[in-house]
Amino acid sequence: MKTKDLQNNSTDIEEAAALIQAGEVVAFPTETVYGLGADATNDEAVQAVFTAKGRPADNPLIMTVGDASQLSAYVEVSHQARQLMNTFWPGSLTIILPIKENAVSMLVTGGLQTAAVRMPDNQATRAMIRKAGTPIVGPSANLSGKPSPTTAAHVHHDLDGKIAAILDDGPTQVGLESTVIDLTAAEPTILRTGAVSQKMLTVVLGKKVIDGTSQKSLAANETPKAPGMKYRHYAPDKPVIVFDPLDFNDLKESLEDGDAVMAFEELLAELPKTVPSWSLGADLAGASENLFAGLRYFDEKDEVNKIYAQAMPDIDLGKAYNNRLGKASGGQRFTL
Ligand code: TXA
Ligand code: MG
Repeated sequence: MKTKDLQNNSTDIEEAAALIQAGEVVAFPTETVYGLGADATNDEAVQAVFTAKGRPADNPLIMTVGDASQLSAYVEVSHQARQLMNTFWPGSLTIILPIKENAVSMLVTGGLQTAAVRMPDNQATRAMIRKAGTPIVGPSANLSGKPSPTTAAHVHHDLDGKIAAILDDGPTQVGLESTVIDLTAAEPTILRTGAVSQKMLTVVLGKKVIDGTSQKSLAANETPKAPGMKYRHYAPDKPVIVFDPLDFNDLKESLEDGDAVMAFEELLAELPKTVPSWSLGADLAGASENLFAGLRYFDEKDEVNKIYAQAMPDIDLGKAYNNRLGKASGGQRFTL
């Protein structure tokens, strides 16, 4: 199959919607990362998404909608859920809600009695979903285990020839996957960190929000609530080593041939021009936007053997950034 390139214009959006209706798989842009779309009510189409990604069948998919009104047939939307949707949608928050009886395919939920729902902040994608007239599944459009794609080129790299089309709307803005909050637990619980922080959620809900992702809340033999979080993730083939900016001078002294560095622009300026480098911009938002692209960039460079990447302060969006980088590195940190 030849993977078609579609752009953000009405003719191409129509075509993308028609492909979804026909049961094909279409990659779509969001503000976080590119997703892999298919009609969530068509089991064969959903199965094709698992096959294209090489995704384990017990890892449920997000149902992605163009309008909150598309949800009522599938999930129970509580008052709390409504509050979060009104504040953060369209945007980087995925909400786990109870499903209505027999309303959502087992393939989408992985057999759970809950479903993850999200409305992304991208006009072209929401127009495509509205035209298709059905919610679409929306896992990140990477091969399972690889860093999520933040450009259409990344999607091509992983899935060319395996999917019908890619709707290209340029690079994504946030660069890290959405926050996942579980509203079916006794207390609202964050299952994956993202741009919508614990603090922001607490303010809107007016009650305690548990961070279910912190190390101590999960014993070694325990299964995480978000099934996807148990798999190795976001990882390039080459080793990734995290460094604290306070150790940058030591790192600079110990760099060897084949070492590449991902850091803020101002730190890179101190390196010899011969060191392969990738800019994380000037702040946390820039670092989040550019993290996955940098990991993919160095993975393709023959002359690079190891990737050093800068850690961020562990608050708000920094938690999400450090979480993804931590998984990419398998916990390896630079020390002298
Ligand atoms: O930003 C995003 O959320 C992107 C864009 C494309 O929308 N999508 C994305 O999907 O990251 P995916 O499938 O790669 O990650 C969804 C996460 C997985 O960790 C999955 O296990 C979890 O959400 N999840 C899905 N349904 C769930 C459920 N019913 N209960 C608990 N966790 C669930
Ligand atoms: Mg993913």
